[in-house]
Amino acid sequence: MPDLASFNDAVQMPALYHSSLGDLKDGQLLLNTLGLPVPNSGNFAVVYQIQHRDKKHALRCFIHPAPDQEERFKHIADHLKRRPCRYFVDFQFHPQGLKVGGQWQALMTMEWRDGVPLERHITSLLDNSDGLLHLAGQWIDMFDHLRTLDVAHGDIHPDNVIVHDGELYLIDYDAIYIPALQGRAIQEVGQRNFQHPQRNGSHYGLNMDHFPAWVIYYTLILLSIEPGLWKRYQGGDQKLLFTAEDYKNPDQSLLFGELEQSSHPLFKLIARKMKAMLQSEFADLPALSHAIVRAGGLPTQPQAPSDWWRDHQVESVAQPTQTWLKKR
Ligand SMILES: Nc1ncnc2c1ncn2[C@@H]1O[C@H](COP(=O)(O)OP(=O)(O)O)[C@@H](O)[C@H]1O
Ligand SMILES: [Mg+2]
Repeated sequence: MPDLASFNDAVQMPALYHSSLGDLKDGQLLLNTLGLPVPNSGNFAVVYQIQHRDKKHALRCFIHPAPDQEERFKHIADHLKRRPCRYFVDFQFHPQGLKVGGQWQALMTMEWRDGVPLERHITSLLDNSDGLLHLAGQWIDMFDHLRTLDVAHGDIHPDNVIVHDGELYLIDYDAIYIPALQGRAIQEVGQRNFQHPQRNGSHYGLNMDHFPAWVIYYTLILLSIEPGLWKRYQGGDQKLLFTAEDYKNPDQSLLFGELEQSSHPLFKLIARKMKAMLQSEFADLPALSHAIVRAGGLPTQPQAPSDWWRDHQVESVAQPTQTWLKKR
């Protein structure tokens, strides 16, 4: 595969855009102050922004080969055409997209989604516990919705979630699963700080998002109670609070230790539920849904946390106090 510098060079030359990209060759590529294209890169792709008329697009170039890509994206696009999902942006796969070093390279054109990645949105809400709880409610809504459409994203982590005007959007579609792809394996196994330690390439199915969905839901609840956790555990783009190390050795984990020893009943409850998931087989992980959250004795919207508290007695806590709800 060509390297990043070769993509940077090629993307600046409209003559190297395949005709299937249409008018995009006449677009305005986003450049930095030195006049060079701005590459957004993760592990699998390098993404450029190009504006044509008043619309921004993403040119997503692949930096690793993936043999059945074209067929997979065709199935995914067909599925989403029949069952549109408001959390995804429009995209189109081009088997021949950009000529780099004399060879056609595949690329994906996508609607460019302005906004901020989830971790930045969380940072902006650290002093707003109601805002974090509202976000937790939206987070559950998203997975309830994806489930009704028989879609799993496959690589849920904060940089693959963009928040725009208070709404959540998912980007990075390489690991999407839909039932037409049953029986295939996939190279990507997701960002490890958000994945169950057992997850491997054979776990390509509708339950791939269950574990990261819970991890991020629990993180939002914890931060709504104790925002100081963010600094203490160095929340950022690669991890929020929990890490792959915590999943591997929960009994040695500082974070699990703090949650278990805390006087907050919800902290203890979350530690217990996370540990139970870590001990569970991958196939048995529960989905994140409003119904399960409520049945599990955790807060969910539209229930206010204080109502949740009135309605629930958390096991093993004799005299719960309500002070944590009004802490700040
Ligand atoms: N459609 C899009 N709209 C806005 N930004 C995007 C879009 N697609 C990708 N990006 C930016 O490019 C980065 C890398 O893209 P991504 O598809 O996540 O690649 P990777 O698979 O390498 O993680 C993202 O984290 C995001 O900042
Ligand atoms: Mg990504």
